[in-house]
Order: sequence, then structure tokens, then C-alpha cells
Amino acid sequence: MAKLSEDYYRAYLREKQARDELELLLEEKTRALYESNQELEEKVQQLQTQQAVLMQTEKMATLGTLSAGVAHEINNPLAYVMSNLESLSYIKPVLSELLCISHDFIGGKITNTDVLTALKRLNKQQAFDFLMTDIDELLDDSQEGLRRIGAIVKNLLSFARPKNNLLAMSDITLSLESALKLLHNQLKNTHLICHVQPLPQSYCNLATLNQVIVNLLLNAKQACDGQVQGAEIIVELYSKHKTIYLSVTDNGCGMSDETIKHIFDPFYTTKPVGQGTGMGMSIVYSIIQEHQGQIVIESTLGIGSKITCELPILNIPEL
Ligand SMILES: Nc1ncnc2c1ncn2[C@@H]1O[C@H](COP(=O)(O)OP(=O)(O)OP(=O)(O)O)[C@@H](O)[C@H]1O
Ligand SMILES: [Mg+2]
Repeated sequence: MAKLSEDYYRAYLREKQARDELELLLEEKTRALYESNQELEEKVQQLQTQQAVLMQTEKMATLGTLSAGVAHEINNPLAYVMSNLESLSYIKPVLSELLCISHDFIGGKITNTDVLTALKRLNKQQAFDFLMTDIDELLDDSQEGLRRIGAIVKNLLSFARPKNNLLAMSDITLSLESALKLLHNQLKNTHLICHVQPLPQSYCNLATLNQVIVNLLLNAKQACDGQVQGAEIIVELYSKHKTIYLSVTDNGCGMSDETIKHIFDPFYTTKPVGQGTGMGMSIVYSIIQEHQGQIVIESTLGIGSKITCELPILNIPEL
């Protein structure tokens, strides 16, 4: 009897030890799992930060491409504002003299007859009615020029540092409009055809979609550079069956199968060193992914390309 309970006891001890060891093992495994989960979360965080940095870097590179055109666009109104100001300076002596006459007359230093004689002399020197229309025109023109410079700078700023960097119910047409404004100068020798239909609002990020359109248009324009035929770019924006279609078609150089295969690879470029970073289309890809959309590439070497972004019409997600 005593032997039996001793056996039981030993078996119990063995079983307890095995259970303790198992518990310890489980605890260690849980800790290891927890740590690798932590590591993974950190890595995801790091990757997200890196992607944001990459997108900003690419945007800055695109800005570099844009700036030559923008400088030219600013130069024009700047030149006529400067020349208008120069023209206005010829009015300064007449104006000073008029002020002096008024000042002396108010101070009782000169009589009515003196004023009349002085005004007649001045009017002969510079016809007052001509001066008045000229001043109006010069000021209006200068204001218009400065407004244009202001609009160009505003477009550039909203591209480089968008304030509305958020998802919201919006009309994607606005992104297209600001992209076209930004590329106004780059596309001025291109035959640009836009087929835009009224769109329903969709939950999207207008600032990043603006970046998509700028990249597609720049690629289309660059594909046409150096081609014999005149550059023609067709932009289409419409919605059908709960999807918004945005396409850019060009009659440029087209792409080989190899290029189509790698087009979304970061840093893949066929452009000469210093001309392309090869990041444009990979950024386009990640932005369209964020909008749950997809991109269709159709291209024939020597004929041209059509890049279509298909974006599902989204609603504000329910919390
Ligand atoms: N519309 C197009 N026509 C012909 N080739 C194109 C077109 N769009 C893109 N490609 C090809 O895909 C490559 C990758 O495009 P991507 O926009 O990513 O980089 P990139 O234009 O070379 O440089 P970046 O956009 O950074 O200045 C281009 O180098 C070009 O060979
Ligand atoms: Mg590009």
C-alpha cells in the first residue's frame, strides 16, 4: 500500500515538473513573440516614415523640373511690372510740381493767376488727360502682373507643402485643374486636349492626386520631347459604374515590354543621368494604392502610351 502511494507521489512530482517546464517554455515563447511583434510594429512605423520622406523627396525633384518653367513664367509679368514702374517714374516730376503749386497756393504764397499760369505750363509739358489714362493703364497692368506672380507662387507652394494633406470628400477635378495650372508653361507647346465630365465627390486626398497628375503629365510631355510629330496629350476624367477614370494619353516614344515591366520599380528610369530620378511612377503607384485603385498601362513603341488610373468612388469610412 505504502509502495503504491510512493509511486503515485513520484508520478505526481514528474507530472508537476513537466507542467512547470512547459509553463516556463510557454512564457518564454510568449515573451519572444511579444518582442518580435514590438519589433515588427517599429519596422512598420519606420517604413511608413521612410515612404513619407521618399514621397516628399520625389516631390522636390519634380519641383526642380518645374522650376525652370516657373522661373520663365514669373519672369514675364515681372519684366512688365518693372517696365511699368519705370514708366511711372517719368510722372514723378510733374506730380511733385503739382504738389508744390498746391502747397504754395494753400500757404498763400501764390495767387490764383500764378496757379493758372503754372498749371497751363505743366499741362503743355505733359498733357494731363494723357497722364491720367496712362497712370490708370500702368497701374492696372502692374497689378495684373503681380496677381499672376502671386498665383504662380501659390500653386507652387500648395504643391510643395499642401495644407489639405488629408483625405476628405472632394472633387478630383480640382486636382487636375491645379496640376494643369502648375504645368501651364511646360505644356504650352503641346496640343493638350481635356475631356472632363462632372464627377461625383469621392473620399480622396486632393494634394497627392495632384502629384499623380503632375507626374503623369510630365512623363507624357517628356515622352514627346524629341519626337518628329507635334506633341499631343489627351487627358480624360470621367466616372462610370462607381469608378473614376483618369487617363493621360500621349503620342510620344512609347515603352518597351521591359520598361512596362519595371515602370513601378523605385529608381527605374530610361532617362539620362540627372534628368529622371525614376521615382515618379512608383510614387504614383503608392498614391493610387492608398486610394484603393489600380493603374492600367497601354503602350506601343514609337506610337505612344495611355496610362489610366481607376479609382473606386469612396465614401467617408464609418468609425
Ligand atoms: N508616358 C510615357 N511614355 C514613355 N515612357 C514612359 C512614360 N511614362 C513613364 N515612362 C517610362 O517609365 C520610366 C519610369 O518613369 P518614372 O516617372 O517613374 O521616372 P522618370 O520619369 O524616369 O523620372 P522622374 O519621374 O523621377 O523624373 C521612365 O523613365 C520612362 O522610361
Ligand atoms: Mg517621371
